[in-house]
Amino acid sequence: MPRIAILGCGLIGETHAECLAQLGNPPVLFADTFLHRAQKLADKYSAHATDDPFSALTRLDIDAVYICTYHDTHAPFAIEAAVNRKHIFLEKPMALIEKDCRNIASAVAKSGVRCVTGFKLHYYSLARKAKELIGTPIALTARVIDKRWPDDSWANDPIKGGGNVLSQGCHAVEMLNYLAGAKPVRIFAEGGNLHHSGLDIVDTMAATIAYDNGAVASLFIGDVGLTEHNGKFSFQAMNGNETVHLYRRLTRMSYFDGENDNRFDGEEDGFLNENREFLTAIQENKRPETSEMDGLRTQMILLRGIEAMKTGQPQSLIDLP
Ligand SMILES: NC(=O)c1ccc[n+]([C@@H]2O[C@H](COP(=O)([O-])OP(=O)(O)OC[C@H]3O[C@@H](n4cnc5c(N)ncnc54)[C@H](O)[C@@H]3O)[C@@H](O)[C@H]2O)c1
Repeated sequence: MPRIAILGCGLIGETHAECLAQLGNPPVLFADTFLHRAQKLADKYSAHATDDPFSALTRLDIDAVYICTYHDTHAPFAIEAAVNRKHIFLEKPMALIEKDCRNIASAVAKSGVRCVTGFKLHYYSLARKAKELIGTPIALTARVIDKRWPDDSWANDPIKGGGNVLSQGCHAVEMLNYLAGAKPVRIFAEGGNLHHSGLDIVDTMAATIAYDNGAVASLFIGDVGLTEHNGKFSFQAMNGNETVHLYRRLTRMSYFDGENDNRFDGEEDGFLNENREFLTAIQENKRPETSEMDGLRTQMILLRGIEAMKTGQPQSLIDLP
């Protein structure tokens, strides 16, 4: 059993700790700038606590770390973890800028550790089912639409968070790539900062992505108004006549097989399944389904989308790793 430290003991640090405990491998160390947050989880899981996350990255009695902190800290923590040969569960987005993402990917490759990027949607049972049913679709849509994020939240801080599109857009892009099963080759986008004036962030993106097999996708991301019916995450993949539609945070799916509409219900099981994937990747020394390369690729696609918005020109993706 890998001995695991969690860096960042907020909402998601706690969620991963619960999943690891369910999987019989609870964390042994918690780190947070606010010691009381680390201590609260340490008490719950009979573990240790520290307010110095870098110390966790050099300890010999730690095999793997979860990075669940603000986005500007992902690169320094992940690179230090890789240098010290700790396996890494890296929450999304990998990092906000391309240079940081590339540096993480090369540190991981150099050290040979296993790295999962936290694309939980990929691991929902209904997402698997959707992919199985639709095969290789010719057209796709993705909607990751949230309620308005407060101006003063860390996620809307241009340095710590990057705003809605750079924070959450990677979920949408990764799922589109997964469902498409093809290589993205071009992106065009409109949008920008539509309703957080004064903040240097992108809050809304309406984009199109073209794939190398001729498939096309439309993508909408923004904290511009949540509807209960769809929920924050919804995706549709179409194959001429057949279509799968995942909605209500991927807990519902309809599949039209050309004649009949079939309904499926599912669970929000992405967090648990991605934790299982991480433990298996370490124990069996195998590349996880969503690795550092997916973290790098998805963030580069979003950054090229933002470039398309700024220049009014479609951006090529053919050089992507
Ligand atoms: N996969 C998902 O569905 C999902 C959902 C929400 C958040 N996230 C991601 O999880 C990460 C954390 O988000 P959250 O919602 O848990 O935030 P949060 O604000 O609830 O918790 C973040 C914690 O990290 C701590 N922290 C920040 N910088 C630190 C540092 N340098 N050293 C030590 N501790 C530090 C903070 O004190 C805080 O306790 C982000 O990358 C976010 O995008 C993923």
